[in-house]
Amino acid sequence: MTAIAVVGAQWGDEGKGKIIDMLAEKAAVVVRYSGGDNAGHTVINSRGEFKLHIIPSGIFYSHTTCIIGNGTVINPAVLIGEMDNLSQRGVDLSRLYISDRAHVIMPYHILLDGLEEDKLGGNALGTTRKGVGPAFTDKAARLGIRVGDLMDKPGFLKRLNLVLERKNQILTKVYGVQPLVLEEVYQQYCRYADRLAPHVRETSEMLDSALKKKEIVLLEGAQGVLLDPDFGTYPYTTSSSPMAAGACLGAGIGPNQVRQVLAVFKAYCTRVGGGPMPTELKDDIGEAIRQCAHEFGTTTGRPRRCGWFDGVVARFSARINGYTGLAITRLDVLDNFPKLKICTAYHLDGKTIDELPARTEDLERCQPAYEEMDGWMTPISGIRQYSHLPVEARRYIKRLEELCN
Ligand code: IMO
Ligand code: MG
Repeated sequence: MTAIAVVGAQWGDEGKGKIIDMLAEKAAVVVRYSGGDNAGHTVINSRGEFKLHIIPSGIFYSHTTCIIGNGTVINPAVLIGEMDNLSQRGVDLSRLYISDRAHVIMPYHILLDGLEEDKLGGNALGTTRKGVGPAFTDKAARLGIRVGDLMDKPGFLKRLNLVLERKNQILTKVYGVQPLVLEEVYQQYCRYADRLAPHVRETSEMLDSALKKKEIVLLEGAQGVLLDPDFGTYPYTTSSSPMAAGACLGAGIGPNQVRQVLAVFKAYCTRVGGGPMPTELKDDIGEAIRQCAHEFGTTTGRPRRCGWFDGVVARFSARINGYTGLAITRLDVLDNFPKLKICTAYHLDGKTIDELPARTEDLERCQPAYEEMDGWMTPISGIRQYSHLPVEARRYIKRLEELCN
């Protein structure tokens, strides 16, 4: 066996945590490969309900090594809080490892995320304000601080001094807020460093040895393909790649190791934050989905925008990721709708198109073209075998499969 990438195929919140938790039982290693604590992965198992933001959803199995990969950005306070919460609830953390190449979310990243969003006003992206975007910006700008840097205190102080001087100029001169105090930030992050040090490793070597032993490695995605900075609804995207290709970079393995790419789709669509979503339902159907499925953000509590399954998005998502399988979640949310709609194309400026336009301004003008299917009008959540599903539910799944090729 080799690496399996588990990718959020829509706008995030597809149920990746649940699927990883299921698959992790047979995996030796689970790696989170992108994003930061903007993610919110809910896992419900025999120990209760857990909301994970940065720790991989494989943590509940004592035989599974969990890695926070180099492609992530880590807020140490959030990570430590999550570790404390898990250990208080009896979860063993001795197999949790953190890549020394992962970037650290610093206090100025969180401040700037909020200040930049406020400055954008009506054009705000609706970020989670966790500092994730500014941390990835610094990574690209070569101004980042990495987990490995925290492990060398004198080196960290030197680096922080250099970076903080520039950040304080932006905070004070652009935004007119108080500067951060070097000594305070330094001391605080030294405490985090001491706490995290036993978990810090060169994690790509660990993956290499697992793969050489033919063990199963799960690559846990965060966010969703339509939030990818290249292929998502730019600029209404996140700042690291949630795609299957992002998994190799964010974990440190070769693309030839990834033998399966499992897409996680919701049976309908949701989106949280700004940006176009052609099938969004601003009516009672959207509200019914939101209430029935409790579609409120795990990280920010914001109501999620809900809508019908978007086959244009699905086909695009499948094409650019090379999915080998689909996991379709929350089908039972559709139990009570006599008619279900699936978007199969868009109308744009008098033309019908079946490809996702690159420009957000174009996508905003797209009107969905729907086909209608009969609902099943019966509760299906107790069903454990595909063949026991009502014929209408099987037809619905079949149609999603076709749309994803
Ligand atoms: P999981 O892993 C849904 C969205 C934000 C915002 C945009 C940019 O739970 O699927 P950011 O804070 O990343 O700069 O915000 O991306 N977003 C998510 N939406 N699920 C997520 O993660 C998300 N992570 C970020 O709402 O629109
Ligand atoms: Mg989520």
